[in-house]
Amino acid sequence: MKKILITGANGLLGQKLEADFSKWDSVLATGKQKDFVLQDKKYLYQTLDITDKEQVQSVIADFRPELIINTAAFMNVEVCEEKKELAWAVNVEGVKNLIESCQKYEIKLVQISTDYIFDGRNGPYSEEDKPNPINYYGGTKLQAEEIIQDALIHFLIIRSNVIYGMGTQVKRNFFIWVYENLRQKKQIKVVTDQFNNPTLADNLSILILEAAERNLAGILNLAGTKYLSRYDFALKIAQHFELNKNLITPVTTPELHQKASRPLKGGLRIDKAQKILTTPFFSVDEGLKFIEEKLADN
Ligand SMILES: NC(=O)c1ccc[n+]([C@@H]2O[C@H](COP(=O)([O-])OP(=O)(O)OC[C@H]3O[C@@H](n4cnc5c(N)ncnc54)[C@H](OP(=O)(O)O)[C@@H]3O)[C@@H](O)[C@H]2O)c1
Repeated sequence: MKKILITGANGLLGQKLEADFSKWDSVLATGKQKDFVLQDKKYLYQTLDITDKEQVQSVIADFRPELIINTAAFMNVEVCEEKKELAWAVNVEGVKNLIESCQKYEIKLVQISTDYIFDGRNGPYSEEDKPNPINYYGGTKLQAEEIIQDALIHFLIIRSNVIYGMGTQVKRNFFIWVYENLRQKKQIKVVTDQFNNPTLADNLSILILEAAERNLAGILNLAGTKYLSRYDFALKIAQHFELNKNLITPVTTPELHQKASRPLKGGLRIDKAQKILTTPFFSVDEGLKFIEEKLADN
């Protein structure tokens, strides 16, 4: 029986995974909130805060999945610098709580990680490159990776970057921020010196499904095919949705005076995964076209 538990299921990637894995025999979506944002009765949902050790133990002991995908994370890179204890509790202690049950019941753990474990001096990065985080968020995500690798459990660490898309009650990601501001005719400042390969959440979810079904292990980069600056990504969003690109002001990272340092040449090389998986990897244009079609359907 193929049984899976997804954490952080109310988030963007969690929702997509819930829908894609619903062809498995049994799927338990879990999230911090009391109710699941996807209000379809076919989905099984339970409240689960991964920082609550006892709750983690009892939910997993009751459900006994063969696989856990951990998408739950304290994600706001700026706030992580101020609320370090909270970020550590979710991104590191929460993962330790999951590992304990994985060890006890021989459950495989799929952890979603990030290119922010690198310093951004010479990206895009391969699975073998040496991490060197330059902000607190990246540090916590690397710590989680290391604990998982030392834990003697079956694991797959999936690294991705700039995960974007539309979802139910999803408040923020780079795409939504650009799209909503331009629609409301608001000026935005976007950096020209941060480079990544943005990843459509819907595409990432299907790639994760294939990786899970093929029982892949170790570390794997899954991301989009197009490497570009945030500014060029924002211009593409404006172009695709016929929004006013003149509202986008190009700036450099130092001009924003952010608390958390940002990797500049970030992003991930995906050649290893492209050789292994048969699912196509989306470019930014394909990702934006996908969103356009979804919006038109609705
Ligand atoms: N977004 C990106 O650009 C990006 C890039 C690389 C890697 N990642 C990784 O990808 C994963 C999914 O990201 P996403 O884009 O889907 O983010 P998201 O939409 O913010 O989803 C994260 C979810 O985790 C939940 N969560 C936070 N603390 C929790 C806790 N203690 N227990 C249970 N759930 C908790 C959040 O709930 P609340 O909203 O209620 O707090 C949210 O629903 C994360 O692990 C992230 O580190 C993201």
